Amino acid sequence: MIDFKKLAQEYQTPLYVYDLEKIQEKFKAYKNAFSGRKSLICYALKANSNLSVVHQIAELEGGADCVSIGEVKRAILAGIKPYRIIFSGVGKGDEEIKEALELDILFLNVESYQELLRIEAIAKDMQKPSRISIRVNPNIDPKTHPYISTGLSENKFGVELEEAKKMYLYAHKSEFLQPIGVHFHIGSQLTELEPIAQSAQKIAEFTRSLIALGLDIRFFDVGGGIGICYAQEKVIDLYDYAQSILAALGGLDVTIICEPGRSIVGESGYLVTKVLYEKYTNKKRFVIVDGAMNDLLRPSLYDAYHRVWFQEKQEELFQADIVGPICESGDFLAKNARLPKMQSGDLIVFENAGAYGYSMSSNYNTRMRCAEVGIKNNQTYLLKSREKFEDVVADELDNLRKNCE
Ligand code: LLP
Repeated sequence: MIDFKKLAQEYQTPLYVYDLEKIQEKFKAYKNAFSGRKSLICYALKANSNLSVVHQIAELEGGADCVSIGEVKRAILAGIKPYRIIFSGVGKGDEEIKEALELDILFLNVESYQELLRIEAIAKDMQKPSRISIRVNPNIDPKTHPYISTGLSENKFGVELEEAKKMYLYAHKSEFLQPIGVHFHIGSQLTELEPIAQSAQKIAEFTRSLIALGLDIRFFDVGGGIGICYAQEKVIDLYDYAQSILAALGGLDVTIICEPGRSIVGESGYLVTKVLYEKYTNKKRFVIVDGAMNDLLRPSLYDAYHRVWFQEKQEELFQADIVGPICESGDFLAKNARLPKMQSGDLIVFENAGAYGYSMSSNYNTRMRCAEVGIKNNQTYLLKSREKFEDVVADELDNLRKNCE
């Protein structure tokens, strides 16, 4: 068990703590699931882009799935080889496309016809053909939270099969586009295998039709990984997951790409907070902690549940909302948690916070983003310092002074 008390004393709270060994174990489990097949596991940086976290993946020769040129550059800084990096996203800007081509990453995932033409034009300008994959929207319900469901026609992601075919044929003829992959991603926090298997079958069939037309498709990208257990969700077995994809591929000679984020880092991360006060209204008990929605947005944004850990006491448990200091009623980290009477200074730790925790944090209410530490081989490493007020306002102050001169 991690000694949260000691860490809180040394690094203060709120604080993100990551078990770096567990991150590597989770990554290896994906590699093993696809062993015996050509595969590339591209860790989705959006889940947690701390350089030291990404470095754990680089050490195991993993790849990266990025959604901005910032993430691409982070991946490279963390030691991921450019030829293992893919770049997705519905709105890549010209500069981002240009830089990605300069950096010679594996491929860009294209999400619209207009973007395809834009990439072609930029590649032509640079006289450097661009390797691409097209994100195909299979229109299959992933049965997850609507905010993180992406593979339906009503979602903004990817293009539908017919449009994708036209784009592949266009790219095939272009001197500056090299269509080498097919991509789909139906959603995040997936707890059912059936929609993944169905999508893989549909897209594999589509891939066969492309190959029959003479396209040289070498990568079959199945998008993000499996969901994790926050409350009582059943977790898809990785072996079954891999088998369902392999079964769909039949005789296709392609490298499988998978882009897990949450299932690599989620369970390895904790948000450690400290109790400030307790208060009661006629209706409710509130436990106020020093962490807030700016540190962990998931409960406020998705009504997400994060299990809490606290020091056990010989006292009765009774319900409380755990809330932060931010000026919003939506600023809660847990609703109806069962806690003993808490004293100021007691710790409350939110589990499964390694994915989409720090990476979605902000400075809202001019709160400093907290520190991040990692544990490996029983040693603790500071991965990112707590932000300082002076640094957060430095640029604004500079401009204010210049504009007032
Ligand atoms: N690939 C693509 C194209 C994606 O859009 C995503 C996630 C992933 C891979 C990684 O999926 P994962 O393995 O993590 O399920 N902020 C939300 C999650 C947003 C996910 C967005 N895309 C949350 O906190 O639940």
